[in-house]
Amino acid sequence: MTTIAFYDTKVYDRQYFERAADAGRLRWRFHDFRLTSETAASVAGAQAVCVFVNDRLDALCLQQLHQAGVRLVALRCAGFNNVDLTAAQALGLTVTRVPAYSPHAVAEHTVGLLLTLNRKIHRAYNRVREHNFSLSGLVGFDLYGKTVGVVGTGKIGRVAAQIFRGFNTTVLAYDPAPAPDWAGQHGIRYTDLDALLAASDVVSLHLPLTPQSRYLLNAETFGRMKPGAYLINTSRGKLVDTTALIAALKCGRLGGVALDVYEEEEGLFFEDHSGEVLQDDELSRLLTFPNVLITAHQAFLTREALTEIARVTTENLLRAATGDFLTGTRLA
Ligand code: NAI
Repeated sequence: MTTIAFYDTKVYDRQYFERAADAGRLRWRFHDFRLTSETAASVAGAQAVCVFVNDRLDALCLQQLHQAGVRLVALRCAGFNNVDLTAAQALGLTVTRVPAYSPHAVAEHTVGLLLTLNRKIHRAYNRVREHNFSLSGLVGFDLYGKTVGVVGTGKIGRVAAQIFRGFNTTVLAYDPAPAPDWAGQHGIRYTDLDALLAASDVVSLHLPLTPQSRYLLNAETFGRMKPGAYLINTSRGKLVDTTALIAALKCGRLGGVALDVYEEEEGLFFEDHSGEVLQDDELSRLLTFPNVLITAHQAFLTREALTEIARVTTENLLRAATGDFLTGTRLA
């Protein structure tokens, strides 16, 4: 029987993973806290770990896992910027992820954020509950006829771009590895990043966080965006320089911002901090803007995505003995 130390566990993780587990061959050991080098001692006795986006598997943490006898790191997410893959490889640790569980979940949340922000549905909801039926301050714009720039046209970016096309918007795309056939089929035009930023009324980020893409949106690139444009980020927080974002909002350069991710989300998102004094001054500032909408990394959270995440992760854990992992899931 393989014991898997499972970190940053939430109620829905237990529910979906217990359902997917092969009870006879896998034993889950659920921990509520995150895996970092400080908590790695808790892995004792486990042969594998199952981790999520805010667990921090740096070289030190990976060394500790290896020393404790862990041989497999199973990421139950698509992004893997929180794992030092070079260190994992050097230690001979196998790392797997779930590359595509539901691009629809993330793309649909992206569009949901845009519609909510633009049409001020979150504000209207609160007003109506207070019997305030005034419409002042709730003016939005038609998406029809506008230009949406999609940065990153992988699995999620493509679904998002196709949904945006459904609103009869012009969709511009930027990706260093473009997919011209797909773009041609859907009436989407590739362009370079500068042209996309200059022409788009809405910019939506769907690229991974890498050393090259860190702070892709910064003071300089905000300056190249169309004045009053909206920015949607459901990818990774560090794609956006938060200090520059706040400055761009304060001077009105950006018309609105919707975030599902935040560069300092680690240790904050996924937890209930209500009743506590928020120590993060930039997040506090962002929450004061009427034209900022934030969700706490929930774009993936659909029944379909959770079912698929649990299925693929469990299947890979069962296959660890043979090394015959599901196609496209192995990172190291
Ligand atoms: P993918 O790997 O299918 O596509 C990523 C695309 O980005 C690729 O086509 C790649 O060529 C492109 N790309 C790489 N560097 C780029 C750059 N500098 N500029 C423009 N494009 C670039 O990934 P997928 O599945 O579409 O996911 C995208 C991102 O969404 C993930 O990396 C992850 O960070 C994020 N994500 C967020 C979730 C959430 O719940 N908020 C859930 C799942 C993923």
